[in-house]
Amino acid sequence: MTNQLTSLLNIKHPIIQAPMFLVSNVDMVKAAMLCGIAGCIPALNYRTVDELKVAIKELKAAKPKDGAFGFNLIVNKSNVKYKAQLETICELGCDFIITSLGNPEETIISAHKAGIKVFCDVVDLKFAKKVEALGADAIIAVNSKAGGHRGGKSPKDLIEELCENCAIPIISAGGVGCKADIDKMLSYGAAGVSVGSLFIASEESNVTNEYKQACVDYGENDIVMTQRISGTPCTVINTPYVQKIGTQQTWLESVLNKHKSLKKWVKMIRFSIGMNATKNAATKATYKTVWVAGPSIEYTKAILPVKEIIRRLVN
Ligand SMILES: Cc1cc2nc3c(=O)[nH]c(=O)nc-3n(C[C@H](O)[C@H](O)[C@H](O)COP(=O)(O)O)c2cc1C
Repeated sequence: MTNQLTSLLNIKHPIIQAPMFLVSNVDMVKAAMLCGIAGCIPALNYRTVDELKVAIKELKAAKPKDGAFGFNLIVNKSNVKYKAQLETICELGCDFIITSLGNPEETIISAHKAGIKVFCDVVDLKFAKKVEALGADAIIAVNSKAGGHRGGKSPKDLIEELCENCAIPIISAGGVGCKADIDKMLSYGAAGVSVGSLFIASEESNVTNEYKQACVDYGENDIVMTQRISGTPCTVINTPYVQKIGTQQTWLESVLNKHKSLKKWVKMIRFSIGMNATKNAATKATYKTVWVAGPSIEYTKAILPVKEIIRRLVN
């Protein structure tokens, strides 16, 4: 099919394999591109800029004529590698950047000079208008069904509100598990979809088999929001370990979080502990099973190659 997103990225189907911290990798994106969709990797999945360079070169070499690849950049101060990542991506090139958290202005200016499109994560109209005014090429509308740091509005409400008030294409992120879901998002006015959780249990993904199998065994009713990872509510599978540690901030944290001069440090410590726990759970055998995923794992019935997941999604 041809629509705003397929034309923008020169791809066959209006689908982006969404960036997922610790999960996405070059093999997943290569497989996605070969199926005629776009793939995106968080730049933070690379420890160093040199590793990021290797990934960009590999993807450029593997890119077919109807595939596209991009990187996700966290553009606020919490990402100390932001400047170096942006410089590297603009120097070596890619098709698009997805920005999250913070003001994307600098990214938009630099990326456009390098001929790279910029799509911005957005959860409400106010921020959508802001990124549109800054020159974003499209909006990633993160809804209440998304995995990770989800938004507050239903897919329909968010897409319709953004389509009515913004002129740039709206790409819906969250809650897509099958072709009918894609058709629904397009019928609300979206130009395409960004799909994450469905690809966690892909053969190519970086995470442990236990994490992938959990996406098969658990379903949408097993997804809960926790504040115990980054401090910002995030969706995780409600494993016995998550039930044991609880999903709310501890009493001490919530007291310290209200303290004017301490709250910044409490947030940073929580972020660092949470990220470590998630990393260990995703990449090592551990009983501390904090597995990030969204309700669309309901559609994950087996661990499959990316190619097969996409075949089912477009058929
Ligand atoms: C395990 C996991 C990790 C994620 N990491 C990131 C990330 O690093 N950056 C980002 O912008 N979004 C991240 N997301 C959100 C996705 O890019 C996408 O918006 C979301 O997965 C769409 O919802 P879905 O899971 O229902 O398909 C993550 C989502 C999941 C499930």
